[in-house]
Amino acid sequence: MFLPQLMARVEKDEKLVVLTCYDASFARLLADNGVDILLVGDSLGMTVQGHDTTLAVTLEQMVYHTEAVARGAGGRAFIIGDLPFGAYQQSPQQAFAAAARLLAAGANMVKLEGGAVMVESVRFLVARGIPVCGHLGLLPQSVNTTGYRSQARESSAATRLIEDAEDLENAGAQMLVLESIPAVVAEEVTQHLAIPTIGIGAGPHCNGQVLVLNDLLGLTEKPPRFAKDFMEGSWNIANAVRGYVASVKGGEFPGPEHSF
Ligand code: KIV
Repeated sequence: MFLPQLMARVEKDEKLVVLTCYDASFARLLADNGVDILLVGDSLGMTVQGHDTTLAVTLEQMVYHTEAVARGAGGRAFIIGDLPFGAYQQSPQQAFAAAARLLAAGANMVKLEGGAVMVESVRFLVARGIPVCGHLGLLPQSVNTTGYRSQARESSAATRLIEDAEDLENAGAQMLVLESIPAVVAEEVTQHLAIPTIGIGAGPHCNGQVLVLNDLLGLTEKPPRFAKDFMEGSWNIANAVRGYVASVKGGEFPGPEHSF
């Protein structure tokens, strides 16, 4: 699936349903059960590799998992590949070389973390045919600075986040993940921008939602407060995924208990 097909869904006011995905079997199952976007997230450092953070994930590993997901999806879902820590922050040229590897592996878009500091790289990638998804709010690759704490709670930080979002859009980013921020801030960003916002712990007003697959499957030992175990009450994985898809498309997830 390519970007124009996805954007047509947003124009019809359909919520975009996103799940992280790390292998071919799940890619096939998720694509068959209505998930629009498979995010090959560097969260695989935690969910697959067992690290405490995403920082140890390498570009080679992201390429390997992106190839597996692309084979499984067989063109039936849009694929976003995460640029891992250390593979893009140095320069736009470094970001281009890493992003090109992910596109060659089967990603349709790359995601990178950060606001104003990433604007030059976003512009550089977009001008060279690489669709970019930004990521603001809680940035797991900056855990050593911020910890895993929700962001943009004070009004000055919220204002900075909104400015970052506008900067990323102006630089050509075509999607924006908002992680762990107050619902009112995510709502304001979503109203300000023309590009779709994808929330995770960011309330119900974004244009789409993303969950970490392992959280949805109830496999996470200490899931974040905003996550939901969709295996509860489901008779198999496909049924749980369909439940998630229906809840997001129907506007029931995330509810107030999954927002702040
Ligand atoms: O790596 C990941 O899974 C992510 C999501 C938390 C958005 O970036």
